[in-house]
Amino acid sequence: MRVFTTVKDLGDLNAALKEAFEVKKNRFAYKALGENKTLLAVFFNSSLRTRLSTQKAAMNLGMNVIVLDVNQGAWRLETERGVVMDGDKSEHILEAIPVMASYCDIIGVRSFAQFENKQDDYSEKILNQFIRYAGRPVFSMEGATTHPLQAFADLITIEEFKTKERPKVVLTWAPHPKALPQAVPNSFADFMNEADVDFVISHPEGYELDPKFVRGAKIEYDQRKAFIGADFIYAKNWSVFEDADYGQIISKDRSWTVDTAKMALTNDAFFMHCLPVRRNMIVTDDVIESPKSIVIQEAANREISCQVVLKRMLENL
Ligand code: CP
Repeated sequence: MRVFTTVKDLGDLNAALKEAFEVKKNRFAYKALGENKTLLAVFFNSSLRTRLSTQKAAMNLGMNVIVLDVNQGAWRLETERGVVMDGDKSEHILEAIPVMASYCDIIGVRSFAQFENKQDDYSEKILNQFIRYAGRPVFSMEGATTHPLQAFADLITIEEFKTKERPKVVLTWAPHPKALPQAVPNSFADFMNEADVDFVISHPEGYELDPKFVRGAKIEYDQRKAFIGADFIYAKNWSVFEDADYGQIISKDRSWTVDTAKMALTNDAFFMHCLPVRRNMIVTDDVIESPKSIVIQEAANREISCQVVLKRMLENL
């Protein structure tokens, strides 16, 4: 594997899941694979889970790890070609990327949507420059439009907790005070559409996601109706995808908050969220603290999803 940004990069999803459970059973079995190899994890944005789980996964594989917070201590990077660099950006990304690559074997990149220009976000301008110019395997630690390590961990978690062959999985929009990218719901849809699940997306009108990720998923604008019979509720906020209001918040309707009354409509569903989560905006205290909340197990599986990706990249160096 040279690149990991979408579900397609994993190839056979069942094989990837099987590998994930093997890794989980003995996460130190491949410690020799990463000996004398270095992972560089580049963060343009904040992180708790991705930062720690990626480092842990790399250490499990025997790798050395360098973490770079681009906004803390590095030179400010210019990302546009042709710009006269007479402002506060001291280094161009076209030099920075190959220099970073010269110190490592594999690169992980976190670079969120900036909501300044939809075309720039949806062309994954930063991540794709790493893929093009690093000459190293590159994986997304959440790009502008996808968060595949999260969605793979979500799928692993659903596989672990499901009690029927084809569970009903509902991705529901929930309110949030700040505009958030579509990366998590995009990737969740991307993975669920390839998995053996009955997948439903529920959101207020105007919050339709990119059809490239939604594909054949059922859309239900009535959240309560969507919850009926669900085995997994996956809550997440996202901002508008459509051109006219791209990156905007058009509703903070708290009637969409996931609460105990709505969970009672489900088939005793498990509650999931990628975290961090705004309590009593996205989900009530009662639901996230209930025995059916598996958000911690879900976060723990981030180590496993990342380890599968790193293992495959190391095997193909
Ligand atoms: N879910 C997730 O990616 O968490 P962080 O933003 O803390 O890495």
